[in-house]
Amino acid sequence: MILKGGWVLNPATNTQEIMDILITEERIERIGGGIARQFHGEETFDCTGLWVMPGLVDPHVHLREPGYEYKETIHTGTQAAAAGGVTSIACMANTLPVNDTATVTRYIREKANAEGIVEVYPVGAATKGLRGERLAEIGLMREAGIVALSDDGFPIRDAEILRLVLEYARRFGLPVIDHCEDLTLTKGGMVHEGKTGTRMGLKGIPCVAESVMVARDVLLAEWLKAPVHIAHVSCKESVELIRRAKERGTPVTCEVTPHHLSLTVDDLFLSKYDANFKVNPPLREESDREALLAALKDGIIDCIATDHAPHDAQSKMVEFEYAANGISGLETALPLALEAGRQAGIPLLSLLSRMTVEPARILGIDRGRISPGGMANLVIFDPEKEWTVDPERFFSKGKNTPFSGRALKGKVMATLFHGRAVYLDENNPWGLTPICVKRS
Ligand code: DOR
Repeated sequence: MILKGGWVLNPATNTQEIMDILITEERIERIGGGIARQFHGEETFDCTGLWVMPGLVDPHVHLREPGYEYKETIHTGTQAAAAGGVTSIACMANTLPVNDTATVTRYIREKANAEGIVEVYPVGAATKGLRGERLAEIGLMREAGIVALSDDGFPIRDAEILRLVLEYARRFGLPVIDHCEDLTLTKGGMVHEGKTGTRMGLKGIPCVAESVMVARDVLLAEWLKAPVHIAHVSCKESVELIRRAKERGTPVTCEVTPHHLSLTVDDLFLSKYDANFKVNPPLREESDREALLAALKDGIIDCIATDHAPHDAQSKMVEFEYAANGISGLETALPLALEAGRQAGIPLLSLLSRMTVEPARILGIDRGRISPGGMANLVIFDPEKEWTVDPERFFSKGKNTPFSGRALKGKVMATLFHGRAVYLDENNPWGLTPICVKRS
């Protein structure tokens, strides 16, 4: 297969150039000018005017299988990923049963091999049942293929348990992804604590509920010299703590979601209690959003993660108080991130590195780069295409997005996985039949 004349964006080498890419079997064989002239009769995608970039790596996705297949399955979640240009996803352990044993890890991997459209990297629970009391089978899960540990959905409340998790994880070379939330400070909270939340009459979740745990985590990481990755950072206080910890040389990394970069609690207010804006951590204030954008620009925030959290309609169509937390994010992440990057003045390659090489580095996987001999996981993207978000057209079962009706710029036209087109957009420029399928 040949991708001809695309604007090849390669964050790993910090290069952007019009080039051809020759793909043989599942790998990239050559990258350069004039390749298309030398090879004829191949399957050729004319990429003139389009971007060609590495498949995105998302370190924080909820696939819901096993156990909550009515919210999402490995099949539909990976379809959503392919449609969003994401070819590698790390899936969180808050399934039913929880992924706290090698058996569940193997189940997820086998299911992903059989039905997944893109690559699935399971994250193992740090503690049994995500209860924060006893460590999960870390070594056995590692052998079965987990790439990280996390109790995401819940914090690890007990500092001694977190210490043990960090120490074990370091021995096994696994990153620990921590959901920072002091539950004693968030009890009953539904929205960001502040003026807007009070006007709405909803109990608040203060920023300090997050930052107090971030402080604990970075201090433990510094003391133990064991890496910690802070999930979905939402407020300026957390950013400041991470900035200072990094200055001291603490092994800390962190992520931000496209929704925290794009929305604030005022958008929730304007939505008139739309539960699709309900997410944990909550949407914060404009000053937090600006701090997140600035931190992404200067590298304090290492990467962008969707925290794709699909829910069934009924979990959201209830009183705000009872609605589930979460946003279905895979299919809107890239244009939203690009929009945020433009707002913050982040150079394009730098922004893309936060969705490719950086998350791959944190997860310790050899993905997110365009290199000869490397796996041909690529995205062909039309940067000019304007479209309107319609959740009913999502591949994800989770239609829960606060971006419904929003006009976005830029759309994935094709996603190649292991050298084959697994996603072709309905408006693809080659007039090909749209698909979103597994290719063997
Ligand atoms: O909003 C959220 N939803 N935040 C989390 O931490 C968990 C996630 C979920 O699993 O639905």
